[in-house]
Amino acid sequence: MTTDFASRILDWFDHHGRHDLPWQQDTSPYRVWVSEIMLQQTQVKTVIPYYQRFLNAFPTVHELAAATEDEVLHLWTGLGYYARARNLHKAAKYVSEQLSGVFPDSLEALQELPGVGRSTAGAILSIAHGQRASILDGNVKRVLARFHAVEGWPGQRAVHDRLWDIAEQYTPAHRCADYTQAMMDLGATLCTRAAPRCEDCPLQADCAARSSGTQRDFPGRKPR
Ligand code: ADE
Ligand code: SF4
Repeated sequence: MTTDFASRILDWFDHHGRHDLPWQQDTSPYRVWVSEIMLQQTQVKTVIPYYQRFLNAFPTVHELAAATEDEVLHLWTGLGYYARARNLHKAAKYVSEQLSGVFPDSLEALQELPGVGRSTAGAILSIAHGQRASILDGNVKRVLARFHAVEGWPGQRAVHDRLWDIAEQYTPAHRCADYTQAMMDLGATLCTRAAPRCEDCPLQADCAARSSGTQRDFPGRKPR
């Protein structure tokens, strides 16, 4: 069942996933890290031109570390959530000065970087290092909560932990980078919040929410 889940996701990705995003072209840890921070709260379409300008201005972590905060914020203007830019700059100085420009390659060490939580660390590890590591961003939470009809608000510890368990269980040992990208793409393009396109989804045959027509109930909302 586990390999079956991953192989259905990967097969869908091969035919319908996105393969031409700028951060997929050269998956160095620096480039993947910048993309993942930008994508934390901003859609792919919006991020692309910012990402290209940012990487032109700061092609390596050393150039980013050497920039002034004003220069970094200037290139971030319009993306919002400016704490992300300040954290990015702080983390770049740390990697450039303390780690000789070499990005960490473990979950624990990556999460030492300001702005990098468990899911972002998993994305960097899988996409840039090809390691088996799981992600659980907003899109993936929605897919997994619907597929398993996981009740409750993911802001609650028990619900959050359950979703992480499921995410880890399905993460394959091979093609980890593609699997990560595929889950993000599936959540962003098919299993959308308001109008999931279940008829095109590779998981439709065993999706609990689809079979009971309760897609809108997952993930659960914050209790009030
Ligand atoms: N959201 C977060 N990371 C992403 C990625 N690598 N591709 C598309 N959407 C994302
Ligand atoms: Fe989401 Fe529908 Fe796919 Fe279930 S079948 S994971 S609700 S798109």
